[in-house]
Amino acid sequence: MISERATRVISPATNVSGTVRLPGDKSISHRYAMLGAIAEGTSALENFSTGADCGSTLRCLRALGVNWTRENNRVVIHGRGSKFQEPTQILDCGNSGSTIRMLSGILAGQEFLSELTGDASLSRRPMARVIKPLEMMGAKIAASDGGRPPLRITGGRLRAIDYIMPVASAQVKSAILFAGLFADGETRVEEPIRTRDHSELALRAFGAEIKQARNEVRVAGGQKLHAVEATVPGDLSGAAFFLCAAALFPGSQLTISNLGMNPTRSFLLDLLAGMGLRISVTQIEEIHGELVGVVQAAGGELRGGTIQTPQTAMLIDEIPVLAAIAPYTTNGVEIRDARELRVKESDRIAAVATNLRAMGAEVEEREDGLQIPGGQKLHGAEIDSFDDHRIAMAFAVTALRADGPTSIRGADAAVISYPEFFATLDSVTTR
Ligand code: S3P
Repeated sequence: MISERATRVISPATNVSGTVRLPGDKSISHRYAMLGAIAEGTSALENFSTGADCGSTLRCLRALGVNWTRENNRVVIHGRGSKFQEPTQILDCGNSGSTIRMLSGILAGQEFLSELTGDASLSRRPMARVIKPLEMMGAKIAASDGGRPPLRITGGRLRAIDYIMPVASAQVKSAILFAGLFADGETRVEEPIRTRDHSELALRAFGAEIKQARNEVRVAGGQKLHAVEATVPGDLSGAAFFLCAAALFPGSQLTISNLGMNPTRSFLLDLLAGMGLRISVTQIEEIHGELVGVVQAAGGELRGGTIQTPQTAMLIDEIPVLAAIAPYTTNGVEIRDARELRVKESDRIAAVATNLRAMGAEVEEREDGLQIPGGQKLHGAEIDSFDDHRIAMAFAVTALRADGPTSIRGADAAVISYPEFFATLDSVTTR
């Protein structure tokens, strides 16, 4: 729960330059923590996400009998093997959709009843997408009206399923794969559009055998996982704010020292390069299947473009900031096939449209996206984060090129994925 709604004032900047070292990727941190918890042995995770969401995952794991310690960004997890301890309290997932959905997959395979809740935003988010396949596997899940949290999961022995997902969601795919570890037989998941494959790579890193072909993934039940030592790559979705800030200034020069560049996420780099940001990758390595590199970005032109299927799924968390800089592009940005944005931490289509209009922009809001003309001048305004971390950070970037200061109410929502965001932004902006 975000308790205080702090307002932050962002003044216009004249340039962006310097070096950013990113906190660990949120998606990968959740997965490493959950898999470390059901592995045998002790996992050591360096550069673990500093975001409150991954803190929610760690706290839920503690309530399930998993011992872990944290010192700065190093998290050491003592795996329990495949069995958790029955919780004596309700599991609070806070603001985190990843926690509630992916942990549900593991809890479906545990022989006890557990209850998962979250904050006001999480309580509005759709869970039927995980309830349905996990019930097909044999779990019993009660939810609030319309399939919303809280979830009461009665887990047990599961059976493998062959499931074609109606919604492209990496969280749902992961929940099914994690449940598949506890099922008799081989579970097969097919997704309509390829989503991030961090779970597949993490499962392999922890020693599981996974079969992957095109849009389908298979996992056999009963596999034992083994602890890992890993360094979490820097969060590309966090880097997106700085790359977009650099794109706003023709003289910008930015180095990102540890960027996670998993190909199912890194389309952002191609898109920004196509829009005119000069990007070069100066080093690249693979850690547990994940690509990590050093990236340099220099501002130039800022052209617009269209984002639509299948790119929408690969850019889903970056669309708010891409939309938030769209008025400054020369020819505008159109976003299509992005209906999922309406059921994220906030209705991100409505939030972007409301804030851009408050700053004087012309925007067309559509059911599944936005059409934002380019060549616009924006002014500072009082805007809102809608208690959504990505909206808070996206508009801190928009504010850098506006005339006059912008006040962002509820800007502290950034702690959900990137507590250091505003300090890092200050360190790379010239005013
Ligand atoms: C995530 C998947 C995406 C993304 C979210 C993190 C993940 O959600 O928006 O921030 O870690 O798997 P969906 O799976 O709902 O698309």
